[in-house]
Amino acid sequence: MISILFVCLGNICRSPMAEFVMKDLLKKHGLSDRVQVASAATSTWEIGNPVHHGTKNKLAEHGISCKGKTARLLIREDYTAYDYIIGMEQSNMTDMLEIVGGDPQGKLSLLLDWTGERRAIADPWYTHNFEATWQDVLRGCNALLKHIAEQNDWKLR
Ligand code: 4NP
Repeated sequence: MISILFVCLGNICRSPMAEFVMKDLLKKHGLSDRVQVASAATSTWEIGNPVHHGTKNKLAEHGISCKGKTARLLIREDYTAYDYIIGMEQSNMTDMLEIVGGDPQGKLSLLLDWTGERRAIADPWYTHNFEATWQDVLRGCNALLKHIAEQNDWKLR
């Protein structure tokens, strides 16, 4: 079982969007039983809170439910528990490195790295532009899934 943990500052907007988009892609490709996906926060600010209504509504537009998800904190033990630990922007990388205590196994990346772009996922916190976040997250998740499928010799439907 391959495991992916998406990470952002609050775990209520960007990383839960990535979690549920990736779960949806995996389902569509018949790979749900081969990849486990979750998301976590680098800050304690929103711990226990449900997904932001902007992300929830954007996912719902695409028929995706995020029911039951509440924000949880990234912890050091996640480093051994997950194969891919993926932030949304450079400040997440700094915080992730501090929390997990380094990246000797090269598990940490930023989501848009997988598309070959070196930029952040659009942050909807101040802009309320969840569509821009959706577009970025979808690009990143498709690129990551393509990489994982190639690595494991899986055919994408
Ligand atoms: P997220 O969005 O990191 O994508 O979940 C944010 C959530 C909370 C805050 C900022 C961004 N905040 O400042 O509390």
